Amino acid sequence: MVRASLDAAADRTAVPIAVAHDALVLLVGPSGSGKSTFAAGYFPPEAVLSSDAFRSRLAGDPADQSATDEAFSALHAAAEVRLGQGLLTVVDATNLRFEARDPLMAMAWRHGRPAAAIIFMLPLQQCLDRNDARPGRRIPARAVRAQYALLRRVVAEVVNEGFSAVYQLRSVAAIESASVRIDAP
Ligand code: UTP
Ligand code: MG
Repeated sequence: MVRASLDAAADRTAVPIAVAHDALVLLVGPSGSGKSTFAAGYFPPEAVLSSDAFRSRLAGDPADQSATDEAFSALHAAAEVRLGQGLLTVVDATNLRFEARDPLMAMAWRHGRPAAAIIFMLPLQQCLDRNDARPGRRIPARAVRAQYALLRRVVAEVVNEGFSAVYQLRSVAAIESASVRIDAP
């Protein structure tokens, strides 16, 4: 398994985040850690399945938590089809709980696809500040703190879950200087 921890000292020649063209990629991180911004910058839009986008589609509001079950059902259905067809599938959700990752990992396994995790480990204060500053949807600070508590344990957990690669992005500099390589068939 590839394991890479990218920190402030990371430069552009540092380990690229390499994902197979048919992989499942889980973005893992608390609200405000920059998952959706990263996804938009580094992955083709059609590959990105975002829980907020599914909430928006189904309930008209990305923050409508009452639409969570339906949003994840639809996200899982889309992931199943994409992985079945061997298409890159990037899941943009917090993915901090085993229960969130497990059905997706099972899907990748069923379809014989590799899985990578990209973990957004920014300092708590940065996630809180970004949440405060963001236009529109904001998450309560206590929810971000609770997610952050899960984040502390996530690295130790994901290494035993069958990922072929686990990347940790540990600073804004690491995120900004990251490079993503999608390996062709
Ligand atoms: P994101 O909206 O990308 O975070 O950034 P996220 O992890 O996907 O959050 P959730 O889980 O959906 O809630 C959060 C805020 O931080 C800013 C974005 O513009 C957004 O307002 N941001 C993100 C930056 O200012 N710089 C970055 O490099 C990334
Ligand atoms: Mg997001």
